[in-house]
Amino acid sequence: MVSTEETLDLYGAYPDDVVVSVENVYKIYKKSDLEVVALSGVSLQILEGKIMCVVGPSGSGKTTLTNIIGGITKATVGKVYWANLRTDITKQSERVLTEARRSFIGFIFQVNNLLPHLNAWQNVELAARIAGVPKKIRQERVNRLIKLVGLEERKHNKATTLSGGERSRVAIASALVNLIDTKGKGLVLCDEPTGDLDPETAQRILELFKELNETLGTSFFIVTHSQQVASMADVTIEIRDGIVSGFHQKGIDLDELGGTRIVKLDNNYRLPMPVDLLEKAGNPTEFKISFENNRFILEPQLGDVVDTVRERKARTCRVCGSEIAQGKFICSNCGSTV
Ligand SMILES: Nc1ncnc2c1ncn2[C@@H]1O[C@H](COP(=O)(O)OP(=O)(O)OP(=O)(O)O)[C@@H](O)[C@H]1O
Ligand SMILES: [Mg+2]
Repeated sequence: MVSTEETLDLYGAYPDDVVVSVENVYKIYKKSDLEVVALSGVSLQILEGKIMCVVGPSGSGKTTLTNIIGGITKATVGKVYWANLRTDITKQSERVLTEARRSFIGFIFQVNNLLPHLNAWQNVELAARIAGVPKKIRQERVNRLIKLVGLEERKHNKATTLSGGERSRVAIASALVNLIDTKGKGLVLCDEPTGDLDPETAQRILELFKELNETLGTSFFIVTHSQQVASMADVTIEIRDGIVSGFHQKGIDLDELGGTRIVKLDNNYRLPMPVDLLEKAGNPTEFKISFENNRFILEPQLGDVVDTVRERKARTCRVCGSEIAQGKFICSNCGSTV
């Protein structure tokens, strides 16, 4: 059955180059009576043929966001639009998503999960089989992928005898089993793909990403802690405590994020304050805000807004209007409680 949204094409308004759009997504994990807010109103768009990186401290929500984009984890609130379905996937069944994911999204997980007793070629072939690549084209496709990631010489080696870089190549080839023939819209999601690789091997993997990005038009969404990885991104997002706390265009320096950071209002007109700047200013919590000469000006305020209001309230009696001395809570004129 075709959903109403598809019939009406409510999502036709997206520009053609949007591959995935995440809109005001919240994710709350519930375990017995404990709630963890992993994402708190995240919005972003992944564009065709672009590389987006994600940086942020441990526990900030990077893996959760990656899995929500890939449709593996359901958002608690918010929308996730996939260009291939032209719809919001948070309302779709697991069956529809599994089918749609096959020719749209490839995953490279934080820990690459190759089968140790199979060789490099067999691991990619198994991934192709699971992804539903038809039997008659599977062998040819696996050969092509093995060549593409530069593993021809090592394809008969068991996974246990491959180096970290070679295992990553197998994982990349496996992620591409269905994307290699997708013109443009394919997306590869990677959770710290170079985390346990030495810098030289990591560089080679990154060059491979770049090549795939340029030759196949594949988009990449890469979680990373590495400057090396972030350097090749078209856009990098900073994530902190489940919110996107900054966007960066090309030329990001992870040690000096303030240099390229752009902050964006969320749907409720809230602006994330960069914690590094707050620390520099002595962690103020209140500001006077004004707009002059095309600039917003935030002036840190001393004291506490609530306390100021409290003091003012305590000064006049609600019943007789007499002044009440500071620190007193009973009106000396009429005896009312303040
Ligand atoms: N299945 C789950 N159940 C409950 N809480 C979870 C679950 N998965 C993640 N969390 C919590 O959600 C928050 C975000 O976790 P997430 O794994 O997305 O962080 P991360 O940025 O990927 O961290 P890291 O850099 O360490 O991989 C954390 O507080 C984590 O403990
Ligand atoms: Mg993670």
